[in-house]
Amino acid sequence: MPDLGSRYLGFALRTPLVASSSPLTGTLDGLRQLEDAGASAVVLPSLFEEELVHDALVLHGALEEGSESFAEARTYLPEPGHYESALDKLLELVAAAKDALAIPVIASLNGTTRGGWTSIARAIETAGADALELNLYRVAADPSRNAAELEQRSLELIAAVRAEVTIPLSVKLSPFFTALADFAACAVKVGADGLVLFNRFYQPDFDLETLEIVPTLTLSTPEELRLPLRWIALLHGRVKASLAASSGIHSAQGALKVLLAGADAAMMASALLRRGPGVFREIEQAMMRWLEEHEYQSVTQLKGSASQRASPNPEAFERAQYLRTLRSYTKG
Ligand SMILES: Cc1cc2nc3c(=O)[nH]c(=O)nc-3n(C[C@H](O)[C@H](O)[C@H](O)COP(=O)(O)O)c2cc1C
Repeated sequence: MPDLGSRYLGFALRTPLVASSSPLTGTLDGLRQLEDAGASAVVLPSLFEEELVHDALVLHGALEEGSESFAEARTYLPEPGHYESALDKLLELVAAAKDALAIPVIASLNGTTRGGWTSIARAIETAGADALELNLYRVAADPSRNAAELEQRSLELIAAVRAEVTIPLSVKLSPFFTALADFAACAVKVGADGLVLFNRFYQPDFDLETLEIVPTLTLSTPEELRLPLRWIALLHGRVKASLAASSGIHSAQGALKVLLAGADAAMMASALLRRGPGVFREIEQAMMRWLEEHEYQSVTQLKGSASQRASPNPEAFERAQYLRTLRSYTKG
């Protein structure tokens, strides 16, 4: 029987299949169900910088030093009380999950600015988290701030969180960087042990009757896999970090493709929310069949075999593919 084991952030995972942050990982019951169904690790829902700074404001009546985003963000945030104990709840969940589960429990922080809030990372480690995922969700909407400045701030944030913890640290990236490969390498240089590709950006819509912005949350489709697939293939072997794919994995085919590209972990949220935790078993069995049929002994043997590690000039390769793709169009 092929060995599905994979190493991610230094953990020997039974399979590469991981439950990424979603409401399903937000309760102990949900986490137990995911482990029972075959998840090899779980990422808890993020604790947001805004929640922590809000808590601090409620408690101390003062702004946390350095958390610049809060002053403006507070206008859009729910009332005090909503966030009360967001941190306490997370710490309780981490401790309970560690107690109940045998698989690695990865906590998640979501923020953009360096500030007092990053010291929370230490409390999360103390509560028992096996690793920490830092989600850098940012929409670079200010025309007066250039890419270099924003990237520098993100790198400072990674370094600040790194300085707080000794557990492995992964960074969940957006695909919107001018030079993503360089930023990925810099993130590793300042302390990321792993990269999660990618954050999904939620695109709000307009309501033509109320003329209001309507937040919409649509689950991913399998077509969205292409973006992480390409970037994992480009980064595999070029950055010294574990790589996890997130966005568009809904089947064994999706999981196998990201492994071929060079991923160490295949993360899922939408597929689990749509079809339930049983998706883990289904995908695991189908992966096993595929590996047997194609005479692979293990996931390790498969990993990265379709990456661009050996390509001396990935930029030229990408241009050639682009040209080929456009030329291949035939009217349907
Ligand atoms: C309802 C919902 C809640 C989510 N909450 C978080 C979160 O708290 N932190 C985070 O990093 N990602 C969060 N995500 C993003 C997922 O972890 C995942 O990266 C994204 O959905 C893409 O993967 P998928 O195609 O498997 O859904 C959430 C996704 C959904 C659908």
